[in-house]
Amino acid sequence: MKDKVLSVLESHNGYVSGEYLSKILGVSRTAVWKAINRLREDGYVIDSVTNRGYCLKKKADQLNTGLISSGLETSVVGTRIEVMKTVDSTNEEIKRRAAAGEESGLLIAAERQTGGKGRLGRSWKSDSGGLYFTFLLRPELPPNEISGITLAAGYGVCVAVREFTGLDARIKWPNDIIIGSKKICGILTEMTAQTDRVDFVAVGIGINVNNKEFPEEIKDKATSLYLESGMEIDRNDFLSVVIGDLDIAAGQFLSGFPRNMKEHFKSLCATLGRNVTAHRGGRIIEGTAVDITDEGNLLIRDNSGEPVEINSGEVVVQGIY
Ligand code: BTN
Repeated sequence: MKDKVLSVLESHNGYVSGEYLSKILGVSRTAVWKAINRLREDGYVIDSVTNRGYCLKKKADQLNTGLISSGLETSVVGTRIEVMKTVDSTNEEIKRRAAAGEESGLLIAAERQTGGKGRLGRSWKSDSGGLYFTFLLRPELPPNEISGITLAAGYGVCVAVREFTGLDARIKWPNDIIIGSKKICGILTEMTAQTDRVDFVAVGIGINVNNKEFPEEIKDKATSLYLESGMEIDRNDFLSVVIGDLDIAAGQFLSGFPRNMKEHFKSLCATLGRNVTAHRGGRIIEGTAVDITDEGNLLIRDNSGEPVEINSGEVVVQGIY
């Protein structure tokens, strides 16, 4: 109920009477009053004046399902959205839900993760101000085509950041989003599959949004939208835009990415044209990143002129962390 009350207050400039709220939401005045008190407990500043009603004076910097989904219509990503206060990891939560039979499309965001996970067994710090969420897909695809989902997700986030902030966000292949030479977003995709069929995919995304500072060990490599733009971002509005763009990108992927989206992806890829070092089959490859293949792999022309395709793992890009 509090989400519904909040949506109405948000969409009105000024006071909304308790009578009006109870009428359009089909509940008692007492239920409205209780919802208002819950919102206040969550940190919203709501003024109440006799004979005028309630007025939202200040939003809480808290994720709210109603605000994220208001005006958002998606068909692939975030068809259901849940917000949790604390969880070990949104990827772990999505995997538990998937194992219990949850359908494709659920997105879970959390204010706080006690065991946030990064790629290659690293941990992901989940300080306040960031966005941490995971969505569930059950694509009818063979396991070897799933890496493209991560590329599509990176592309979707990159487009959303550009759209929402005007910042020159770019993709560091395969799926980090950077501004300048520093990282603002990482993606961890996990899947459960049989030999020829994917059961489910959990795509976990961490974005540094309003983070004001970073620990010593990553402060030269990480930045946030706040630090880059000088603006405090409304995380509900931003997440809503991100989910919309992820839905478009994932939809395109499922209908034939990377072929369909390759050129768009390349236009935002900061890795191309740079000197890179990569590891493949125990070999160190040094050369220039020249292209993204139809399968979404990185094509490197090594220093002896030979083309080499890289499909996963770490690529060190000169000039970027
Ligand atoms: C990386 O760049 O190493 C990937 C980081 C992925 C972090 C996100 S935060 C939300 C989701 N839950 C996790 O435990 N990890 C991902």
